[in-house]
Amino acid sequence: MRVTGNTVLITGGGSGIGFALAQRFAARENTVIICGRRGDKLEEAKQSISGLHTVVCDVASPGEREDLVNRVMSDFPEINVLVNNAGIQRRIDLTSNEDWDRTGSEIAVNLEAPIHLSQLFFPHLASKENSAIVNVTSGLSFVPLANVPVYCATKAALHSFTASLRWQLKDTPVEVIEIIPPAVDTDLQAPGLHTFGVDVDEFADHVFKELEKGKIEIAYGTALAGSRASRDQLDETFERMNSTFR
Ligand SMILES: NC(=O)c1ccc[n+]([C@@H]2O[C@H](COP(=O)([O-])OP(=O)(O)OC[C@H]3O[C@@H](n4cnc5c(N)ncnc54)[C@H](OP(=O)(O)O)[C@@H]3O)[C@@H](O)[C@H]2O)c1
Repeated sequence: MRVTGNTVLITGGGSGIGFALAQRFAARENTVIICGRRGDKLEEAKQSISGLHTVVCDVASPGEREDLVNRVMSDFPEINVLVNNAGIQRRIDLTSNEDWDRTGSEIAVNLEAPIHLSQLFFPHLASKENSAIVNVTSGLSFVPLANVPVYCATKAALHSFTASLRWQLKDTPVEVIEIIPPAVDTDLQAPGLHTFGVDVDEFADHVFKELEKGKIEIAYGTALAGSRASRDQLDETFERMNSTFR
């Protein structure tokens, strides 16, 4: 994709991978809008990225997604790139019969939101040149970590949806890109719970190098290995990754 001169909306851009992508888009003369639920986090991001625009929005809510799209298209009619990055990851004990509202919230943020936002934005993006929908999936799309089961299911589904979306949009001006992170050290799950994995800046620098090369599927490290692995290799990885949760 073209990495300069765009108007880009990044969901969940106030922290972690979304924030690191926002910094890099802003540094390359793009107009950048980020959204998230926490106004204070968005304000913090605004203080450190000059010219950044922010919208408070809970993308788990269909109504808020519609308001977001209407507001962004009205305030930033040049919008040509949507980055579906917002996500949550929850540890769930599947024997505990938790409330559906809690389980469903993860599906709403990680899967319903990117599908719905892609639908809502598509007609507008199709009227632009150099437009793109960028979905952030996961190495866990390919092999699940059993203690975050719904997360992995949503990411596998988003990977699948991204392939179908790319196929259906192949004769339109909208490029469909998938970013497949490995474990990255961010606040995923909550501050202090995901302090492992590769450095977020190292990962975001890699993403931009690959975007500049025109790549449409961008994985890194273990996620790159997983995304290209055979079924036998994935079975082996599943056993190894999950052996500590038995
Ligand atoms: N870190 C990893 O190891 C890793 C690996 C593979 C894939 N990923 C994916 O990368 C993406 C970014 O995650 P991250 O690691 O950067 O974690 P993060 O720092 O927790 O970022 C997630 C962002 O999503 C926003 N968000 C969550 N729920 C939202 C909602 N309902 N509405 C709007 N925004 C919402 C959060 O902001 P608010 O809380 O303010 O709403 C936050 O800014 C996610 O899709 C994640 O699944 C991460």
